[in-house]
Amino acid sequence: MDRFEPNLRIPGPTALPPSVREAGGRQMINHRGPEFAAMLGRILDGMKPFFGTTQDVAMLTCAGSGGLEAAVVNTLSPGDRVLAVSIGSFGDRFAKIAGIYGADVTKLDVEWGQAADPQAVREALTSDPGYRAVLLTHNETSTGVMNPIRDLAAAARETSPDTLILVDSVSGLGAVPFEMDAWGVDLVVTGSQKAWMAAPGLAMIAASERGWAATETAKMPRFYLDLRSHRESAALGQTPFTPAIGVVYQVDEGIRLMHAEGKDNVFARHEACAAAARAGLTALGFALFADPANASKTVTAANLPAGHDWKPFNTAIKSHGVVLAGGQGKLTGKIFRLGHLGSVTVGEILDAIAVLERVAAEQGRRIEPGTAVAAAQAAALAVQTAAVPTTSPAPSEADRAAVPA
Ligand SMILES: Cc1ncc(COP(=O)(O)O)c(C=O)c1O
Repeated sequence: MDRFEPNLRIPGPTALPPSVREAGGRQMINHRGPEFAAMLGRILDGMKPFFGTTQDVAMLTCAGSGGLEAAVVNTLSPGDRVLAVSIGSFGDRFAKIAGIYGADVTKLDVEWGQAADPQAVREALTSDPGYRAVLLTHNETSTGVMNPIRDLAAAARETSPDTLILVDSVSGLGAVPFEMDAWGVDLVVTGSQKAWMAAPGLAMIAASERGWAATETAKMPRFYLDLRSHRESAALGQTPFTPAIGVVYQVDEGIRLMHAEGKDNVFARHEACAAAARAGLTALGFALFADPANASKTVTAANLPAGHDWKPFNTAIKSHGVVLAGGQGKLTGKIFRLGHLGSVTVGEILDAIAVLERVAAEQGRRIEPGTAVAAAQAAALAVQTAAVPTTSPAPSEADRAAVPA
């Protein structure tokens, strides 16, 4: 091990910028007091441009899966028909949650590695009308595929205007453009440990007017996850239950950093890191798992060639300080994943590619040293990036005043 901290290249939780780590260590405050109210207001308003909405956003203390559960129980009633479009294991999870609460779920399973086809959604909704909701995954973290949500939502709206469109963007939102209002999406879920550069513990959910209206008629049981109480409390600058204050501090700081960098620069940085990851892995001889037309901007999945055992490969990579993710579910031992979301820089991706190159050479593969790093660098440079901050911008006076150190 030749470094203090590993280069954590899993698709969340992500490594935290220094100021976010410091924020998480601050003293507790009264979550019913004015400092918390100011902070909650900054977070909910600060997230709206990333959701692409002017609607209310709710913040819940729970994992991303809790956010998916909230999406289901707040919009549906037992017996409601749901079309669950699944392109991987998180799509399967969303469908499973709906089924557990009594929805009548029809799955539209897409081959793993591919994105969902808007035409298939159109056909599913027209051939069998009456769906109350369609479930979509924006970024399928298990396969490294990003679904074209705008086109899928348009297909659903066109063919079945009354069907709600619920989107899992736990690992996409904040890293890539998303326009909830303009695309006609009814509910979007995201998680603090992904693009928001904070620790796990919070799920943020935005809903359209239709989505909020559905919370009034949905009959599925709920208490802690009842979005109505979260919305009502948020209007008073509070959460209905004691929130994970340490993570709230971090998300507040993460959003401040994202706004300081600028939304478009955040997106361009993710684009550049994704391009570098894809080019570097390809140059190393790994076939990419995802259809290139819909490759994720936050995680890249690559096939492990036959005879390339994940465990020793991973151990060797870890010994050089890089932490990758293996495959999930049926992809265990078949693929590995390199995460590039949140506070990631192109330099960190080049570092990971350099380590992969070194391990490949150590394992006797014929690799010309520097080739994969050069390919990754060139790919990142080809993406128009504005200056990428390498250090965290300092908190403003207003921010410092709002939350006691
Ligand atoms: C697309 C997607 N959905 C849902 C989840 C579940 O989030 P959590 O692990 O916080 O429950 C994840 C986590 O990786 C995810 O990537």
